[in-house]
Amino acid sequence: MAKERENFNSSLTAVMALAGSAIGLGNIWRFPYMVGQNGGAAFIIIYLVSSVLLSLPILMSESIIGHKTGQGTFGAMDTLAPGTKWKWLGLLTIVSPLIILSYYSVVGGWSISFLLQSLSKGFHSAEQVSTMFSGLISSAWTPVIFHTFFLLFCAFVVSAGITSGIEKFNKYTMPMLFVLIVLIMVYSLNLPGASKGVEYMIKPDFSKLNGHAIASAMGQSFFSLSLGVGTILTYSSYIRKDKNILTAGLGTAGFDLLFALIAGFAIMPAVFAAGIEPGAGPGLIFETLPHIFVRMGEGAPVLVRIVAVLFFVTIVFAALTSAISMYEVGVTYLVDEKKISRRKATVLIFAGTWTLGALCSLSFGPLADFKILGQTLFNFCDLLTSNFLMTFGGLLFVIFVGWKMDKTTVRDEFTNGGRAKFNCALFDTFYFLLKYIAPVAIVVIFITNFVG
Ligand code: PFF
Repeated sequence: MAKERENFNSSLTAVMALAGSAIGLGNIWRFPYMVGQNGGAAFIIIYLVSSVLLSLPILMSESIIGHKTGQGTFGAMDTLAPGTKWKWLGLLTIVSPLIILSYYSVVGGWSISFLLQSLSKGFHSAEQVSTMFSGLISSAWTPVIFHTFFLLFCAFVVSAGITSGIEKFNKYTMPMLFVLIVLIMVYSLNLPGASKGVEYMIKPDFSKLNGHAIASAMGQSFFSLSLGVGTILTYSSYIRKDKNILTAGLGTAGFDLLFALIAGFAIMPAVFAAGIEPGAGPGLIFETLPHIFVRMGEGAPVLVRIVAVLFFVTIVFAALTSAISMYEVGVTYLVDEKKISRRKATVLIFAGTWTLGALCSLSFGPLADFKILGQTLFNFCDLLTSNFLMTFGGLLFVIFVGWKMDKTTVRDEFTNGGRAKFNCALFDTFYFLLKYIAPVAIVVIFITNFVG
């Protein structure tokens, strides 16, 4: 007899796993920077509105598919639309998270390396930091070894299963991440000159709110909630049938937003206190922030060393919880559809993502000249997934739930068979947003990503 499929033990642990997927590097390096660039509080308001009106309906549509079928992306599409082309959406949303996982794990590896540096020698001068970062990423083996460690850790958690692995890991890690980021924020807000960073985050500047800022807010909330790649769908398939998926969705979006805001108030005040220009991308984490630790370290070395360690612990664990959710999408597929053991599935996914990740890592060094459409392999994978595959997957999910699935089935799933009164009251609004607003908004994000 087939082994019974596992479930998360409670709604709270399901939310922690979902929030673990959502809260990641995007909350730390992208959100704070985008806020400052696009009009401070004005941007935060748009971000909030897009999270509620756009991202939440998309998240719910993935959740409905996963929860309804109790299957991963491929099995779910095959059950809901057997023998149709929709199975390609099931396959697409297995491939895209695995591509993201491959290069995400390389960045995860860099974070481990910086964590070790903060624990051992620390950061002493601006030159040392820059040389260290460029030396690390361009060397052949060191980053591949760290990528291996990062991915092995994910494999270890995923192979232990849904309850003993993923649920347990997120249950301890997520509260720890919140405590750490709050501690860093308290430290940061107390630095002399911190108020400029606070101003950068909240001063509303409505003149910056143009179409591009609005599309960026939508794109960021989409990315931040890990939409369009099947992770939300897969995790939702492990939520017990009697649980309320709207509560889980609201909890996930709420924690994700809260973390992004705290991260903003943890990072920007420190950036400004050190008199450094804020920037986005890996550069913020691996160059700008270590510079801060150098500057501050001159005054209070021990405290700054501790903050640096806590900061990199936060980065490593935030990245791990996201990476694990992508890993699970592939493992669920192999276990459910190919009927192989979880352990074997974990090894197979490891082999594939390790190889692609190692090649991505080498594309900063020995493989720098290997280009696809003018991009190094790492950049190509990043652009392909975050600008194209994620939005495309998200669009197809909302079209599927809004236009292909039967409305009664959707309502039934959204409202727990009509028992959840709050959900019933919201259903018509949700359905309207999902059917008409979300597809148009996703196309807008898509075009903005392309135009750059
Ligand atoms: N939501 C993650 C972040 O904000 O860093 C990124 C992410 C995780 C994207 C998982 C996609 C995914 F499947």
